[in-house]
Amino acid sequence: MTGLDLRIHWRSMRIGVAGVGRIGTMHAGNLASLDAVDEVVLFDPVPGRAAAVAAQTGAKATAVDDLDALLQAGDGVLIATPTPTHPETIRRALSAGKPALCEKPIASDYAEMSALVDDIEASGVEVLVGFQRRFDPAVAELHRRIRADEVGKLYLVRSTGNDAEPPDFGYLPASGGIFRDLLIHDLDAVPWLVGEPVVEVYASGSVLVDQAFADADDVDNAVVMLKFAGGAHAVLVGGRHDPLGYDHRIEVLGSKDSLAVGVDSRTPLTSLEPDGPKAGPDAYPGFPERFHRAYLNEMAVFVDVVAGRTQNPSPARDSLTSLRLALACDESRRSGVPVKIEQEVVV
Ligand SMILES: NC(=O)c1ccc[n+]([C@@H]2O[C@H](COP(=O)([O-])OP(=O)(O)OC[C@H]3O[C@@H](n4cnc5c(N)ncnc54)[C@H](O)[C@@H]3O)[C@@H](O)[C@H]2O)c1
Repeated sequence: MTGLDLRIHWRSMRIGVAGVGRIGTMHAGNLASLDAVDEVVLFDPVPGRAAAVAAQTGAKATAVDDLDALLQAGDGVLIATPTPTHPETIRRALSAGKPALCEKPIASDYAEMSALVDDIEASGVEVLVGFQRRFDPAVAELHRRIRADEVGKLYLVRSTGNDAEPPDFGYLPASGGIFRDLLIHDLDAVPWLVGEPVVEVYASGSVLVDQAFADADDVDNAVVMLKFAGGAHAVLVGGRHDPLGYDHRIEVLGSKDSLAVGVDSRTPLTSLEPDGPKAGPDAYPGFPERFHRAYLNEMAVFVDVVAGRTQNPSPARDSLTSLRLALACDESRRSGVPVKIEQEVVV
């Protein structure tokens, strides 16, 4: 296809959004803010919800009554429905030949996800997974510098991911636990940054925030150690309560440089050094604020993938890697010993 053909074909770009609850509403607003998007078409099975969100999203947004109409109207579809509906909704997008961006996780268990990934790849239709760290401009720049050998030989990666407040306790039993629910984002992002197979996982956790986590057979603070094939280690920490706000940072130390993302004037961390940063009232309250630029960029990249202007930076197969690592974390946390990743995880 020539550049001229592209311009004619994408004279009018329409993106469908399936599911306009918390995250779907945010994505719809971000899509509507993009110059490259002419129309945002919304569907939600709750009567009146899509029309109400369309009204608040602005002139570019319209509502339709069913998924078939959405798939027909959109050049691509963003899937922000509850997790159990993801496999079927993705397969409907594949049948319609419409590229999709699906919120994580694309499926709840490994066997289901594995079959789905095979179907996605057999279809030839692009499906991006909404792991927003990959789309964060600073994380993407870190990825670029590592690939460009500007960091040198990697020694250590450290990531921190603390929620400000625990989720509703009713959410816990179906959440999959802290590794599949919270740390899954970093189990995706850190191996993606390092670019090597993980060969060993060790995980530990404690209940320090609320007994409800123990009642759900979960922990509320966890530490993960990943060992990579080249010998570098990563330490991932995550927790369900941070009194100062939502804190996500990644630090990378290599033979040529030492870099951090997520360290800025809104980081909820107080340095005790006289000239160090102090957490203030504008510290990030939650993930939507911390990852605002990432979510916006995620939509811009999705539109570029739909238009054939760029490659998919978050393919479905990578979700198998992070899920497998999360399951290994569960096993290690319960057994108290490291788990070898027998078949190398290819990133
Ligand atoms: N990437 C992230 O940071 C992030 C953050 C939050 C949620 N999520 C993921 O996003 C997904 C949605 O989470 P949420 O918190 O917005 O949930 P939500 O319950 O607030 O919204 C889901 C919406 O989907 C609608 N819906 C239900 N079945 C549908 C169907 N078959 N077709 C179309 N719409 C349907 C519901 O009526 C509801 O409006 C989940 O998979 C979750 O894991 C990702």
